[in-house]
Amino acid sequence: SKPLNLGDFRTMRANGEAIACLTAYDAAFAAAQEAAGVDLILVGDSLGMVIQGHRSTVPVAVDDILYHTRCVTRSVTRPWVVADMPFLSVRSPDYAVEQAGRLMQEADAAMVKLEGGESQVDVARALADQGIPVCGHLGLQPQLFYKLGGFKVQGREAEAAQAIVDRAKALEQAGADMILLECVPNAVTQGVVEATSVPVIGIGAGPHAHGQILVMHDMLNVTTGRKPRFVKDFMAETGGVEAAFAAYVREVKSGAYPQPTHGFG
Ligand code: KIV
Ligand code: NA
Repeated sequence: SKPLNLGDFRTMRANGEAIACLTAYDAAFAAAQEAAGVDLILVGDSLGMVIQGHRSTVPVAVDDILYHTRCVTRSVTRPWVVADMPFLSVRSPDYAVEQAGRLMQEADAAMVKLEGGESQVDVARALADQGIPVCGHLGLQPQLFYKLGGFKVQGREAEAAQAIVDRAKALEQAGADMILLECVPNAVTQGVVEATSVPVIGIGAGPHAHGQILVMHDMLNVTTGRKPRFVKDFMAETGGVEAAFAAYVREVKSGAYPQPTHGFG
């Protein structure tokens, strides 16, 4: 079927149809996700952990994202494929444009997603000015692993919550087409949804987002160690990879996932 585009995601937001998103890093799993009806595939820098075995996403290089994005885009037609901008690839607007350009031109990514501090809005604007579709990643930014001392819920205090909402607005104004919120209280997601008009995708961000995303390995329960509370094991009740993806899509679309127990109050 025909490739999804940004207009389709805006329509889904407007119509209240939840956007079902997963990460994938290779052709076989990406194809299974397409067959299961996944709308958006993120080639996340989480590959540094689930594929490469690092303890954070910090060591991931643009070349790694490039390789895995190629593996994914070759095998799918309908899903919108987003490539992550890894640590330090957004260190300046010019450098970010160069690297995002590689992800689009050499790996056929449709959009890039970026974390970032004070300069995040300027980088997003530079990318958008070049016609590069942009998703801003707010809340928990895993690339701050060493600064934060681990992975923690963000935006619990009123000031921090407001900063996330303000940043989301600034990103949209700069030309971002999508916002991803990771590990924030449900109320922060609600605030971002009310303050913006682009689709908002959540992970550990509660039920108010317009779409949900999980790291594929987490929802298939093949990651080792303690899993975050927002993860649901879709393999347990289905027993197969494609069935697990399909159950995930069904539950995201129906609103059965996420439950309150998967979010932060
Ligand atoms: O890298 C990744 O997989 C991500 C998701 C957790 C949103 O950024
Ligand atoms: Na990421």
